[in-house]
Amino acid sequence: MMQAKRFGKTGRAVTEIGMGTYYDKPWIRIAKHGVSLGASTKVKAIAAGLDHGITLIDSAEAYFSEPFIARAMRGRRRDEVFIATKVWLDHLHHDDLVAALDRSLRRLETPYVDLYQIHFPNPAVPIRETMGAMEEMVEKGKARAIGVSNFSLEQMKEASSALSRVEIAAAQINYSLVHRKVEKDIIPYCRENGIAVLAYYPLGHGLLAARDARLDAVCARNSKSPAQVALNWLTSRPEVFAIPRASRPSHVIEDAGASGWRLSEADIQELDRAFPVTPPPT
Ligand SMILES: NC(=O)c1ccc[n+]([C@@H]2O[C@H](COP(=O)([O-])OP(=O)(O)OC[C@H]3O[C@@H](n4cnc5c(N)ncnc54)[C@H](OP(=O)(O)O)[C@@H]3O)[C@@H](O)[C@H]2O)c1
Repeated sequence: MMQAKRFGKTGRAVTEIGMGTYYDKPWIRIAKHGVSLGASTKVKAIAAGLDHGITLIDSAEAYFSEPFIARAMRGRRRDEVFIATKVWLDHLHHDDLVAALDRSLRRLETPYVDLYQIHFPNPAVPIRETMGAMEEMVEKGKARAIGVSNFSLEQMKEASSALSRVEIAAAQINYSLVHRKVEKDIIPYCRENGIAVLAYYPLGHGLLAARDARLDAVCARNSKSPAQVALNWLTSRPEVFAIPRASRPSHVIEDAGASGWRLSEADIQELDRAFPVTPPPT
């Protein structure tokens, strides 16, 4: 049974393991020309995750994967799934953002997204203008909540103070056993402020799904795979949701099995020591 937990201040219960739908730059380069390689397997992967109880899906206008989510969602209840997407950094002026969300909604075949995120900060656009447009999207009911991605702590604070009617619900950041520097600033800030953390590259972009001697003992003690241990380590943090890539059903089903159980405190400490926040120079 997958574990759901409260997604920041949204009040929504969302599974701690989600599905990411970024399929890398070479795939996107081809998708831009209208050729969607392996589309049916990707749709099957997302559908398999939904069948196994995952209720969180992450996309972005830049990923060319929003239509896959629409296809996997057909015949399912919209209100049972938390769909997040993102606006690209060249659409952060007010009118561009409004139009970008409308296009995303059309591709997702839904009247609203549960979370609309700014994919990357863009210092060339006043943050007040962008956050104003984001608030407006919430007020119009097109976005249930808003988030930021790849923002530094300073940029998050600036974005927060540019808001007056809505709060930032989530921060999406690179976070995994092999990338822990966010524990120095963004993670404590999110914990203190009730902001959900969406951990991207939760498997270190695949590194942690392979056998690693540093994971062996914990995997053996828990009878779990390296990917499952790496994901459970992340989601043992109360504010963290992990979004491993959903591109083949077998991997999605394995990753869903990272939830519904807990690493012991001793296991977590062992992993914390084996994968230090600041890795020694190589
Ligand atoms: N906000 C941002 O700027 C940003 C940046 C990057 C990513 N993201 C988000 O984060 C998500 C995850 O990132 P990612 O896909 O690049 O990295 P990832 O999930 O850390 O790693 C994906 C790699 O791990 C493999 N994998 C997944 N589960 C596995 C399993 N159980 N066993 C063996 N291999 C497994 C995948 O292989 P297969 O493909 O063969 O399954 C793929 O090669 C993205 O899809 C996207 O939603 C956001």
